[in-house]
Amino acid sequence: AAEKKAVFIIFGGSGDLAHRKLYPALYGLYKAGILKEHFAVIGTARRAWSDNYYRGTVVTSLLDIDDDQEKMQAFAKHFFYQSHDVTDSDHYIALKKLASKLDDQFETDQNRIYYMAIAPRFFGTVAEHINSEGLKTSGYNRLVIEKPFGRSYDSACELNGSLTKTFSENEIYRMDHYLGKQMVQQLTRIRLKNKTFEKSLNNKYVSNVQVTLSESLGVEDRGGYYETAGVLRDMIQNHIMQIIGAVAMDEPAKLDSESIHEVKREVFASLKDLTPDEVDKNFVRGQYGEDITGKQKAYRDEDNVDANSDIETFVAGKVEFDSERWGGVPFYVRSGKRMPAKSSRIDIVYNDAAEEIGIRPNTTVTILIEPEDGSYILVNGIDYLESNQDIIKFPEKEDYFDHAREAYESLMIDILDGNQIHFTMWDELQNAWKYVDIIRQKWDSETPDFPNYESNTMGPDAASELLEKDGNSWVWAD
Ligand code: BG6
Repeated sequence: AAEKKAVFIIFGGSGDLAHRKLYPALYGLYKAGILKEHFAVIGTARRAWSDNYYRGTVVTSLLDIDDDQEKMQAFAKHFFYQSHDVTDSDHYIALKKLASKLDDQFETDQNRIYYMAIAPRFFGTVAEHINSEGLKTSGYNRLVIEKPFGRSYDSACELNGSLTKTFSENEIYRMDHYLGKQMVQQLTRIRLKNKTFEKSLNNKYVSNVQVTLSESLGVEDRGGYYETAGVLRDMIQNHIMQIIGAVAMDEPAKLDSESIHEVKREVFASLKDLTPDEVDKNFVRGQYGEDITGKQKAYRDEDNVDANSDIETFVAGKVEFDSERWGGVPFYVRSGKRMPAKSSRIDIVYNDAAEEIGIRPNTTVTILIEPEDGSYILVNGIDYLESNQDIIKFPEKEDYFDHAREAYESLMIDILDGNQIHFTMWDELQNAWKYVDIIRQKWDSETPDFPNYESNTMGPDAASELLEKDGNSWVWAD
C-alpha cells in the first residue's frame, strides 16, 4: 500500500482509548508501511508530560503486540505531546504552531486528522476552537469522533450542529467500531456474491432475524460512563442498529460509500417506530445480580455505580421495518453484560416457503461476527461448506480471516483514504436515535424491578418469552 501523509492530533492522547486502541492501530499501519516517514502524532491532554514520557507510554501500549524495540522506538519518534486545556484559546494557537512545524518537518502536505478520544461533552468545544483559532489547513481536515454521539435525538442534533459549523458531513468520521469488524464489512460483499442468499433476504422467506451481542464481562472500571448510558445507548443505538441495517438494507448499486449510505439511509428511515405501549410489549430490560456462587458482583455493587441504579445491563427487543421487503419480519435483538459467553452473531431463520429457492425447511444461517474462535458462517449450526446447502459461500479461501485487520486499523486506513463507507452518517443516526428515544423515555418514566437476572445467564426470562409469544425462540440459547 502507498504511504499516507498526515498530522494526527489526538485529543485525549494520555487516555485509555488512545493507548488501548489508537496507538496499536497506528503501529499496525506503520508496520504495514502505510505510515512511514511522513506522519506525526500530537497527543494532547491536560496533564503536563514531556515528549519523552509520552513516547514511553506509547511504546508501553505496544508491548502486547510486538517486541521489536528498534521499530517501536522509531515509531515513537513521530509522537509529540502538548499539554492542553480544551477551553483555552491560547492552547489551540500553540497546537496550531506545533502542527505546522511538524508539517514542515515530516512533509505531511498539511493533512490533518483531528481525533476526539475525549469525553463527548467536549466535542463541540474542541470543534469550535479548531474553527475560531484557524487550525484548518489547505490539506484535508478530517474529524474523527467516538461514540456516544449524543444521549438522545435532541442532544445528538445539538452536538452535530456544533460540529458542522467547522466540519462538513464529508469531513466527519463517526466511529462505530463494529463497522470495522471484518465480518460486518464482508456482509455486503457476501450478499452481492451469493445470489440465493440475497434473494432470500425478505419477508417471503425469512421467518425472523436475530442479532446477539453478548458479553461475559461486567461493567469493569467503566461504571461512571455506564451509569449515563446503559446497554440501550451503549450497544443498541449504534452497533446493533448498524448490524440490522446491514442485513435489512437493499442491495447497494455498488460497493462504494455513496451507494451504501443511500440504501442505509432508506433502511433506517423505514424503522417502524414504537408507541409507548409497544415498548413494554416489544422490549425487555435487565440488570445483572450476583452469579450463583456469589463471587461475581451485582451491577449495583460495582465501582462508581449507584447502589440503587436503574441502569440496564441487558436489553432484548423486537425491531420491525415498515417496508415492502421486511414488513412483518421481526428482527430480534439482544445485548447484555455478564452473559455466559462473549458472542457477536446474526441468525437468519427461514420459513417453509424458502424451499422454493432451494433452502430446506427449518434452515438457519448463522453469521458469527467475532466469537472468541473467529468469524464464520454456519448453516444449521455446522460449517456452511459441510452443510450440503448451496445458500452461501464465503470466504472462498479457508484462511481468509487469518489476515484480517483489527477493526481500528481498518477504520484508520479508511480515514486516511477519505473513505466514509464504514462510518455512520448523520441522517442514519437521527433515525436510530428517534427509535431508541421512545424506549428510553418510557423506561425512564417507570422504576424497574432490578436486579432481575443472575450473572452468567441469558438474561431475564422475559427475553425468551418475547420470542415465544410469536411462536419463535432464540437460536442461541444456553
Ligand atoms: C463498546 C462498548 O462500544 O463495545 C462496550 O462501549 C463493549 O461496553 C464493547 O464492551 C464491545 O466491543 P467488542 O469489540 O469487544 O465486541
